[in-house]
Amino acid sequence: MKTQVGIIGGGPSGLLLSQLLDLKGIDNVLLEKHSRDYVLGRIRAGVLEHGFAALMREAECGERMDTEGEIHDGFFIAHDGIKDRIDLKGLTGGNTVLVYGQTELTRDLYDARARMGGNIIHNVADVQPHDITSNAPFLTYRDGNEVIRIDCDYIIGADGFHGVSRKSIPKDSIREYERVYPFGWLGVLSRTKPVSPELIYAKHARGFALCSLRSQVLSRYYIQVPLTDTIKDWPDDRFWVELKRRLPSDVAANLITGPSIEKSIAPLRSFVAEPMRYGNMFLAGDAAHIVPPTGARGLNSAASDIYYLYHAMLDHYKNGDDTGLAAYSDKALARVWKGQRFSWWLTNLLHQFPDNSDFDNHMQQTDMDYLFTSEMAQASLAENYVGLPF
Ligand code: APR
Ligand code: PHB
Repeated sequence: MKTQVGIIGGGPSGLLLSQLLDLKGIDNVLLEKHSRDYVLGRIRAGVLEHGFAALMREAECGERMDTEGEIHDGFFIAHDGIKDRIDLKGLTGGNTVLVYGQTELTRDLYDARARMGGNIIHNVADVQPHDITSNAPFLTYRDGNEVIRIDCDYIIGADGFHGVSRKSIPKDSIREYERVYPFGWLGVLSRTKPVSPELIYAKHARGFALCSLRSQVLSRYYIQVPLTDTIKDWPDDRFWVELKRRLPSDVAANLITGPSIEKSIAPLRSFVAEPMRYGNMFLAGDAAHIVPPTGARGLNSAASDIYYLYHAMLDHYKNGDDTGLAAYSDKALARVWKGQRFSWWLTNLLHQFPDNSDFDNHMQQTDMDYLFTSEMAQASLAENYVGLPF
């Protein structure tokens, strides 16, 4: 098989790039190790920056997002028994975020690829990139006992943190930066009316909590838990009691509880691999970087990678101009690191760190005091949350 762009990974990053390239007549094949339903079974965050939403519309995948997604003008930070609001719209000259589940967004991307007859191959085994630094790289994968070869001009590693692409780069050609946080997030999905029309991020001595939503009848809640906990330690009743203890009393009093329809614990890590290019292979999304979910930057960091790659591929194939491809890694990393900083800063502001010294905890409290006594500090938070420019 021959194509122009070989994409590894059928999550949001790979699908969005595949759709954008196809719309411009750039041939691509996408290899996904799991089935469509398996990929859609993953529960992920749901806050989209305006830049990501614009990219979805450019990919002709934004219709359901715009009708079912909720525009949010702000969110709350609960601390010391009160709620303070971050006025995203007012502080950023009108920018907002769109609350729309990543599962739904990924479904929209799969449906769009199907409508265009996109070449997506599911349930592939042992995908391997080959001759990455040559001008004739290729991919192989196993289908049963048969090994299939796909010759391409470029390979895109959009295969997530545990994918094969980053691991195919020689150790002496890649630098990795990482911070693993000493706690995880226990997440619950429930068919209940959300406790608040806008998100509430709560800092509390017992640990962080987050009240989010998927729709007016589907709520998403999280609490910080020790890494040693498992979901067996958290029957629904215990979860709801603990969540209420971490929220201001007026919020807790209005919390509608119900059976969890999904419950999982995720570790938190900050991770960046540099550079995001090796030969004719480009890394994008979780394959190259991971953020703690506190700042809802995961999918949004992937968006700028895809935006830069899409325009670089257009310049190459339509104008024979390779400056975009040459600049990709530096340009993508410049924005990735700013998303890393914001996610790291907001995680440090809102969580309990068991090994913090008294001084560290005083710095954390002072950071919160400064935030809500300075409109400039709030504006800085807001401009990061709605999304820094691509
Ligand atoms: N071969 C083929 N496919 C693979 C391989 C492989 N060796 N390894 C992983 N994959 C697939 C996974 O099954 C997954 O569907 O690559 C896809 C990667 O998707 P994601 O992990 O969702 O990463 P990305 O598309 O970059 O999306 C980033 O997802 O994890 C969240 O917070 C993150 O919101 C962000 C978004
Ligand atoms: C979610 O709705 O799952 C969500 C929202 C905001 C975050 C993280 C997760 O920062």
